[in-house]
Amino acid sequence: MLKPRDEILKVAAYVPGKPIEYVKREFNLDYVVKLASNENPLGTSPKVIKALTDYIKNGVNFYPDGSSLNIRTKLAEKYKIGVENILITNGADDALGIIAQAYLNEGDEVLVSEYSFQRYTDNSSIMGAKVKLVPMDNFHFDLDKMFEGVNEKTKIIWLCNPNNPTGTMLEEDKVIEFIEKVPKDTLIVYDEAYREYVSSDKYPKDTVHFFQKYENVLTVKTFSKIYGLAGLRIGYVIGNKDIISALDKTRQPFNANALAQVAAIAALDDEDFIKKVYETNLEGKEYLYKVFEKLNLPYIKSEANHIFFESPGIDSKVLFEALEKEGVIVRPQKGSYTRLTVGTMEENKFFAEKLEKVLKELK
Ligand SMILES: Cc1ncc(COP(=O)(O)O)c(C=O)c1O
Repeated sequence: MLKPRDEILKVAAYVPGKPIEYVKREFNLDYVVKLASNENPLGTSPKVIKALTDYIKNGVNFYPDGSSLNIRTKLAEKYKIGVENILITNGADDALGIIAQAYLNEGDEVLVSEYSFQRYTDNSSIMGAKVKLVPMDNFHFDLDKMFEGVNEKTKIIWLCNPNNPTGTMLEEDKVIEFIEKVPKDTLIVYDEAYREYVSSDKYPKDTVHFFQKYENVLTVKTFSKIYGLAGLRIGYVIGNKDIISALDKTRQPFNANALAQVAAIAALDDEDFIKKVYETNLEGKEYLYKVFEKLNLPYIKSEANHIFFESPGIDSKVLFEALEKEGVIVRPQKGSYTRLTVGTMEENKFFAEKLEKVLKELK
């Protein structure tokens, strides 16, 4: 059999959260809630649905605008930056892959925090870079330790704020201090997929303008989370125009599809929807914290739309399987840690009921 590159053999395939339909079929269930992939439990804005319906009437026989100019223009106006500072991607996942492809050579080093987004490691490994895993400080990024890992071979530092899966946040002063210390020939990828859920006033304020002061910083954003467009795949990168131009050459010619572009434009206009999602998430987190407290399960307060909790003495895969049979899909992590996406109140209550039940059975 033909062998792929050694780097591919070393990378495990990404395992996404199981779709609801699979679990319904497998366990013969009528009602299943998916709280596994940090998706938007309130669905998609009606303004987006309308824009998509209007667009699709004309068919999809034409290629999309390969340069995604309309959405770039809209974002450029929103953030008061140039269109040349924005690259639209097929979800933030695409952005992470393009960045790795454009910048990593074999033998380069990258820094990734323990308990962070798996794709930083995978994309870097595929390019033949050496991934240095930096331990966390009580489930928070440890930027001092991360800085200790920087050397002349460090090409990319992958930051995630708020972090997936822990939901923890790096405060503004720490982020700025770190960025200022890191050599300018090291790229810092600042992934803020969950930024819109943050309620802390210590979150870095001007992340979309980082590149204006620090040309080695790229800010990665997505429409998959609070904007509710995960199924369409659209995200973007903001950065220095020369870096954006290198990424632009690396991407596929039509990486953002026509429907995704139309949907993203409409999604930006529906502020009421965003507000409702934000508030539902805050309310859901408060409810779920109380559930974990009642059940004596350690958890971490989250600035995102997911909560990292522990089931001491119960492996997270065992908990996952037990919950799945009851119609709740969560995301197992290492050891006894689990990541739970905050759902609607109805979903959160269903989860709480099933969690209590399976914990009794597993003890
Ligand atoms: C931190 C982080 N970055 C990027 C992504 C990818 O998002 P997208 O759906 O835009 O590809 C995710 C998805 O869960 C994520 O958690």
